[in-house]
Formats: sequence, C-alpha cells, structure tokens
Amino acid sequence: MIRRNTFIFLLALGISTAAYSQTQDIDRKVEALLQKMTLEEKVGQLNQYTGDWEVTGPVTNSGNKVEDVKKGKIGSMLNVRGVKHTRELQQAAMQSRLKIPLLFGQDVIHGYRVTFPIPLAEAASWDLEAIEKSARIAATEAASSGIHWTFAPMVDIARDPRWGRVMEGAGEDTYLGSLIAKARVKGFQGKGLGNTNAVMACAKHFAAYGAAIGGRDYNSVDMSLRTLWEVYLPPFKAALDAGAATFMNSFNDINGIPATGNSYIQRDILKGKWGFKGFVVSDWGSIGEMIQHGYVKDNYEAAEAAITAGSDMDMESRSYINHLVKLVGEGKVKQELIDDAVRRILRKKFELGLFDDPYRFSNEKREKKTLNKPEFLQAARDVAKRSIVLLKNEGSVLPLSKDLKSVALIGPLVKAEKDMQGFWSIDWGKEDHLVSLYEGMQNQAGKTKLLYAKGCHVQDTSRAGFAEAVSTAKEADVVVMAMGEKFDMSGEAKSRSNIHLPGIQEELIKAIQATGKPVVVLLMAGRPMVFNWTADHVPAILYTWWLGSQAGNAIADVLYGNYNPSAKLPMTFPRSEGQIPIYYNYLNTGRPAKDDTDMNYRSGYIDMQKSPKYAFGYGLSYTTFSYSNLKLSQKQMGKNDSISISFTLTNSGKLAGEEVAQLYLRDVVAKPVRPVKELKAFKKVMLQPGESRTISFTIDKESLSFYNDNLEKITQAGEFEVMIGGSSDAIKLDDKFDLVD
Ligand code: NOJ
Repeated sequence: MIRRNTFIFLLALGISTAAYSQTQDIDRKVEALLQKMTLEEKVGQLNQYTGDWEVTGPVTNSGNKVEDVKKGKIGSMLNVRGVKHTRELQQAAMQSRLKIPLLFGQDVIHGYRVTFPIPLAEAASWDLEAIEKSARIAATEAASSGIHWTFAPMVDIARDPRWGRVMEGAGEDTYLGSLIAKARVKGFQGKGLGNTNAVMACAKHFAAYGAAIGGRDYNSVDMSLRTLWEVYLPPFKAALDAGAATFMNSFNDINGIPATGNSYIQRDILKGKWGFKGFVVSDWGSIGEMIQHGYVKDNYEAAEAAITAGSDMDMESRSYINHLVKLVGEGKVKQELIDDAVRRILRKKFELGLFDDPYRFSNEKREKKTLNKPEFLQAARDVAKRSIVLLKNEGSVLPLSKDLKSVALIGPLVKAEKDMQGFWSIDWGKEDHLVSLYEGMQNQAGKTKLLYAKGCHVQDTSRAGFAEAVSTAKEADVVVMAMGEKFDMSGEAKSRSNIHLPGIQEELIKAIQATGKPVVVLLMAGRPMVFNWTADHVPAILYTWWLGSQAGNAIADVLYGNYNPSAKLPMTFPRSEGQIPIYYNYLNTGRPAKDDTDMNYRSGYIDMQKSPKYAFGYGLSYTTFSYSNLKLSQKQMGKNDSISISFTLTNSGKLAGEEVAQLYLRDVVAKPVRPVKELKAFKKVMLQPGESRTISFTIDKESLSFYNDNLEKITQAGEFEVMIGGSSDAIKLDDKFDLVD
C-alpha cells in the first residue's frame, strides 16, 4: 500500500504508482536474492569479461570463461553477439548455483547490423528526431541479436580535433551535446527497459575524457571545477535525466585523480548530488590502469580505490574478481559497498526481465526478421543525407544536372566501403552490404556516363596514378573527388598530430583543379580536417564524414539535389593544428582582435588569423535564407520571468530547403566573465522558395544562468546580447535586453 504522502510525492515527480510498485517489487526481489548470495557470488556480479569473438581493448588473459560463468564468477560479458552465442553463454549461467543471468554489452555506437553515420556526423544534422530514430533502430537490431546493453552514447564534449574520439560524440557544444545525449538515450531505451527492443544506454566517459591534454587519447585532464560543471558535465546530466541506465567511467585522470578512483566524480556528483540509481562500469581495464597512472601500487589497491570511489563493475581488469573477497575479509572494503554495487546491477537485470526469462533477447526468428530491414536501411540513408555539410558551392556547381554527359569519379575513396562505414562499426564480414560512392552514383546517374580513376592512395605518397586521373578528368563534364581518412584514422587511440588531408591527396586535388573542369570535393573523415588549399580554390565542397551502410546513396542524393543539404558543423574547423584547441564560445580576453587583420598586441598569433576556417554552426544550402524582423517581447526581464524572441526566416532562393536557425546569447558584464557567445536555442525549419515563417524562442532563467566559483548556479543582473543567424560567425540579427533583479 502506498501511503497518501508518498502518493503526492510521486505525483510531483511524475512517477506513476504502477511504476513505483514495480520498483518496490524489484527492490524486494533484489534483497531476497542478495540474502542468498555468498561474497564470492556477489563479487562475480561485479566482474565483466570480453568474449573472444571481437576484441575492443587489450585482453588480460583468457582462462576458461564458460567454466567461470558456470561458477557464478562473471556478471556480464561484452563483445559476445548474436542469438546463438549469447544463448550458449546464458545457458552456462543457468548452470550456476543461483542462476543469475548474464548481461551482454556491446559497443553499438552508430548502428548494429545497419550502420548509421558516425555520431559526430549525425550531430551535424542538428536533427534530434532523426538522431533518436537512428539509436532506436540500432537498439532494436542489437536487442534482437542477444544484446542487452550498449556502451553508448559517448557524450564527451570535444574541443580538440586531434583527439581521435571526436568522431564518437556530438562535438564541442554543451547545449547541442546535451540535447543529443537525451535523444540518443531515449532512442536506445525506447519505451523502457523490459521491452525486448530496448537496450540499456551507457553515458560515457565519466568524466571529462574529451579534454585530454593535446588531444592525445587517454591523456590527463587539468581543468577548473567550474569548467567541468559548466561545459563537460551537463550532457551527462541530460543523459541521466533521460533515464540512462548505466554510466561508464573514463581512462583519464582529472586534476591528478583517475576518474575510475575518483569519489568526487562518481560518489559525490553522480550517485550523490544527482541521485543516479543505475550502475557504473569501468572502462576497459581502467581499474588496473590506476597502477600505471601511479595512483595505486597493485591490483589489490586498485580494486579498493575503485569500489570505494563508486565503480560498480570491473571491465576486464580482473582486479575485483581477484581481490575484492580478500579486501572485504581484511576489513579494507566494507561489505555494504559490495552490496550496493551488486544491488545496482541486479536491479537492472530484473528491469530487463532477465530473471523471468533469461533468453528473452535470444530469439533466432526475431533476430532474422529484424536485422537489416529495408526500412532501417532507408532510415540510415535519410539521416546520412541530413548529416552532409555543404561547405562551398561557388558558381552553383551543385546540384549536378542529370543531363551531364559524363562525370569523373576520382580519388582513393570512390570505391571505399569499410572506410565510409567508419570506426566503431560492427564487422559482419561478407554479409555486409555497404554502398560505396561509386555504387550510389551508378544508382542515380541515369544516362550520364561515369568515369573512374583512383589517382592515389589515402596515405602513401606515390603519384603513379596522377596522369590517369588527370586524363580521366579531362574527358568529363564535371569531376567529383572522394578524399579523406581511412576508417581507422579517427577513433579510439587514433589521435593525430597532423589533421591535414592525409598523404598527397591535396596534391591530386591541385592536379585535377588545374584541368579547368568544375570540381566537387567530397571529404570523408571522422574529424574536422585541415584542407586550406582545397577550401580556397575548389568551387564545391561537401563534408560527408563517414556515413555508414548507405553512404553512397546518401551522397548521390545530395549531389543530384534530391536532397538539399541542411547540416551545420558541430565542431569548429581550424586553419591549422596550431590554433587548437579552438571553439566558438571562448572568453574575450583583455586584448581581443577586432578582426583577422588586427594583430597589434592582440590575443592571437602573428603568423595566422584568429578565425577558424569554418565556424561552429556553419553549413550552406542550395537555396538561401534571409533573417528579418527581430522582436523581443520586452527589453527587461525579471529574474523569474521569461522573454520571447521572435524573427522572420525566409527562403530567399529558388529551391525548397531546411535551415537551422541559431540563437546565441552573451552576458556582457559578469563575474566570472562569460563567453563571447553561447548557443541557447535552435530550430530546424523546412521552407519552400519564397516562404517565410515566424520563429520564436523563449529564454528563461536557466538559459541565463552559469556557475560561480562556489559551483552554485547563478544569474547576474545586467545586459544580454541576442544574436541570431545561420552560423556562429554569421549573425544576421541582434538586439539587447536587461536582466533585472
Ligand atoms: C574502451 C572504450 O574507451 C570504451 O568506450 C568502450 O566501450 C570499451 N573499450 C569497450 O569496448
């Protein structure tokens, strides 16, 4: 029976009484099971091993994992996929004394069987619905194939394109990143755990992994707590608010304390202040790696530090399974800490319904029916075309006419498949059908003849293919070049000090441009690259990232204008590596440069402009948009009030198209000082030629608040600038209002 006060409290939190009694029921079951468990069995639940099929990190040692499962020594496995394999291992778990089912986790980062664009590319769509849908489909496929848990979304803010893992996140902005984090969690978890098409989400890497010094993967993070709270933590909080079932901690240390052994991060913030009820898995081996960090002496101490700091499950370091029982025996670790971690894990197993039926995700018929459905491929194509950014289109080279006699496809990635699928995609070997650019163009070229020359490789320096590429280009009406990175040049442990277009690809572009033919360059990569010559000389450029299974079809859709590009950059593109870290929401300094030519005792470089090559939020369309008629509902806003900001957006060109209208604010005078602008709202709008629409945004206290040095969220009275446009560096409308006490 729920008491009246409890009922009112639940109502206030928006929790239904049915959900409440289900939670209570699960809590009772967890307690009952806990009573029956030996300490060894409890520690087994905190232990996670990789399967031997796929390996995504340095394997510790093998042993007989199936026997360990039967002995109740393993609570979860990663990298075991497919109904057949997961069922086999679950059968072994059913031979353990208490028959506690295994959890199967997998890096389902951008699709499972059908690969979607890499997360950074999807972020460029600024299309939360499409992003949620892509996660929903990935979850549906994975869940049909025995997976209970994805190690996604990665919600790390990243301001350094040298860092290989920028491909896995939503870019540099906290506001956009938080909305995307929410969309992805909702997509993965669907209508909630317990549905057989929902998988547990895992917000990672907690925390600040994206701020690795120098962009070197796994590197230290040295950061003020204010920046941590203001820039790096909000996407995690958003994921938690959206119901993320699990968190993964991170490899880095934060101000000298490894995240895995960091009580402030995991206990005080996540489980304390934020009240997280799920469990925290370590990153691969990160518990043991605290030895290399120099934080603990050995795995015994590592286990003690990690469990004390709130890491619930040990991925692959074997510190827990080898040492926790002894640590409890010797009084170094309290039994309650173990019980708390076990409870958190068991609760999720109950919520997933695995105690009712451990094989409910292991249905071969469902797997067969679900994987690779045509509508999933269609959705992958749809979000892929929404992720392509038009960087340049001088002389309207694009879209291509269907009447062209011939198009030359030139470059090392024209026929690439795996490379366009990108890092963190699941390898299906021969079963994979990945649409290359070549195939995508064949599907749509109609009467146009397609010519092909590779020209050069992605990375080496041989010019042997240049002559053939040049003569092929000369035969064509238009040249489309497919250039960029191979799939393993951005990703985990794939940081690069040089993020220029690799090898001699830009030399090939020069040679082709010299033919005088109209050239379109496609840039396929997992990160922002540097390609200044191309940007300055080639008339048309599309940044296509790595787009997944349907890459070629999606690119052809955009090249032929069947889809009018609408994506906007979620990360700043530098002119040179020397400008990194570079991001749009920087602080002004006491000596800001007025413009790119102002270098007299100014903040910047004497050998390089201050501005980036392409700004955050930038992206063109085949049509044009104009902004007018900015109106603020009032010029003064009370602290607990809100203000409505509206303007007219018009499609001033000749084609239908979507624009992402962006609103930025600046708090002009504040203590501490505030960034030159911050994204606070955006809307993606479809407009027919000549059509106008009124766009309205509401700004309230939350949009104006920030952290002070005591880590309190505050607002300060004073002037705010309002800036509206289609990019952070193309503000079309501006005004001001005052926040008053
Ligand atoms: C290490 C990566 O950092 C993490 O993101 C991933 O989920 C695990 N390996 C498992 O593959």
